[in-house]
Amino acid sequence: MKNVILKPKLESERLILKVPELTFENAQMLFETTNKNREHLELWLPWISKVTEPAHSFMFLQNAVKSYLENKKAEYFIYEKSTGDFYGICAAHMHDTLTQKYISFGYWLDKNKCGKGYMTEAVKTIENDLFSQNVPKLIIRNDTKNFGSVNVAKKLNYHMDGILRSEYYSKKLKSYRDMYIWSKLHPSIEKQRG
Ligand SMILES: CC(C)(COP(=O)(O)OP(=O)(O)OC[C@H]1O[C@@H](n2cnc3c(N)ncnc32)[C@H](O)[C@@H]1OP(=O)(O)O)[C@@H](O)C(=O)NCCC(=O)NCCS
Repeated sequence: MKNVILKPKLESERLILKVPELTFENAQMLFETTNKNREHLELWLPWISKVTEPAHSFMFLQNAVKSYLENKKAEYFIYEKSTGDFYGICAAHMHDTLTQKYISFGYWLDKNKCGKGYMTEAVKTIENDLFSQNVPKLIIRNDTKNFGSVNVAKKLNYHMDGILRSEYYSKKLKSYRDMYIWSKLHPSIEKQRG
């Protein structure tokens, strides 16, 4: 995927998706949104418990900027176009080795903004851009009981490739958890499969 560039900014009907700059304001905004959504996010995102002060969000941003400059990952900040309000993150991770050629998504939203189709719109927007650059395959993984995330994959017509059994341990749920793995192939590759 040598020629694939993770774009710095994308737009959809309602949203602006933008790779963040490394500023204290962005770190503060990210920390505040993370902090007020702690209960909503901690069930499915174990890293939440490690984010206890704005400095942790700043370090996340440092890493995000570095990975973006290396074209390894775009942590798109999601803003409402009409208000400029920050709603959450949709990340696109590049997997480009000798044999693996795909991009995987990870995402979360402010609790008050869930169920309005925003994440489906964000993933679709990134997807359109990546397929226009001929990325062969896109992946979403989620806990089989994470219905919000599962519905995003379903609404976007991802193919459920299988279940990764006891793929991770959830401290919060005190159990080993099964994950779905979903994929969507570039239309030209899907066609070749017949
Ligand atoms: C996953 C997440 C980003 C989905 O965001 P969203 O804005 O609700 O997604 P969308 O509205 O675009 O689409 C999801 C669909 O699932 C539905 N949905 C959302 N939460 C749901 C839930 N808890 N249970 C069942 N359905 C749910 C939505 O209503 C929507 O369906 P609809 O269009 O038929 O109404 C959001 O729920 C979230 O931030 N969850 C916590 C973090 C997380 O789990 N991240 C993913 C880790 S893999």
